[in-house]
Amino acid sequence: MKICLSIGFPIKTSRSPSIHNAGYKKLGIDDKFIYLSAEVKPKDLKMAIDGARAFGIRGLSVTMPHKQEAMKYLDKIDNEAKIIGAINTIVNNEGILTGFNTDYIGVLMALEKKTKLKGKKVAVIGAGGAARAIVYGLIQKGAKVKIFNRSLDKAKNLGQEFGCEYEALDYLKEISNTDILINATSVGMTENKSPVDKKFLNKKHVVFDIVYTPREIRLIKDAKEKGASVIYGYEMLLYQAVEQFKLYTGFDAPIDAMEEALAKSLK
Ligand code: ATR
Repeated sequence: MKICLSIGFPIKTSRSPSIHNAGYKKLGIDDKFIYLSAEVKPKDLKMAIDGARAFGIRGLSVTMPHKQEAMKYLDKIDNEAKIIGAINTIVNNEGILTGFNTDYIGVLMALEKKTKLKGKKVAVIGAGGAARAIVYGLIQKGAKVKIFNRSLDKAKNLGQEFGCEYEALDYLKEISNTDILINATSVGMTENKSPVDKKFLNKKHVVFDIVYTPREIRLIKDAKEKGASVIYGYEMLLYQAVEQFKLYTGFDAPIDAMEEALAKSLK
């Protein structure tokens, strides 16, 4: 039996076990793979990763707040994850641990279901780990990215690193000509708040909030009321897991079964 494990702090609300186990079941490999989750405190991260190596854990899904710190304890890091500066996936091949980032693939797959990205003007709100993966992916696809962040210095660092425009969050009113707006901050997760004043949203916008709970987060609600197209955060969660599934098992993921399990787990 190969074990895959999601690690984070806190981890209580992780949907990953439901998604991956549904995939194993659908392919009839649930006698070969099992997916669990474990809460790992930041101070225990190195021990947890060494433990995974010792126990021969096949895959680790790494979530907040470990996505950057975990890179220190691996044997290899995939090039894209190196550029992004964060990992969310570790694959164990006979004791050699390699880190990958499938978050950016998840974002691109969710976006590309709805819209083309080449030449599109995209406003990304946030300059943390999630924003880094998103900005990286968008630039690969030829989008014109502008970063808006509460602290300008972080927006500047990210903008300069990836060669795109940046501005403080207060300037977000400049988005009337923007095609796509992505919220890569946690604003709205615990409070009924949006990082964008509703009056700046319009029906030409495609609006994507990467937070998946609550599903109808304030920004998404406002965007729908303004007639914009919306993309829900759970789509990114689904597609980053689809990519992980391939890395862990070597099989193409049964997306429908995984999506169904995710929808059920979010109810
Ligand atoms: P993650 O890895 O999920 O991206 P992070 O690296 O801690 O998490 O980044 C959080 C992002 O959300 C940052 O861009 C942060 O803005 P600052 O750089 O100014 O801290 C943004 N953020 C968090 N809370 C916010 C708030 N209440 N208003 C605006 N931006 C916020």
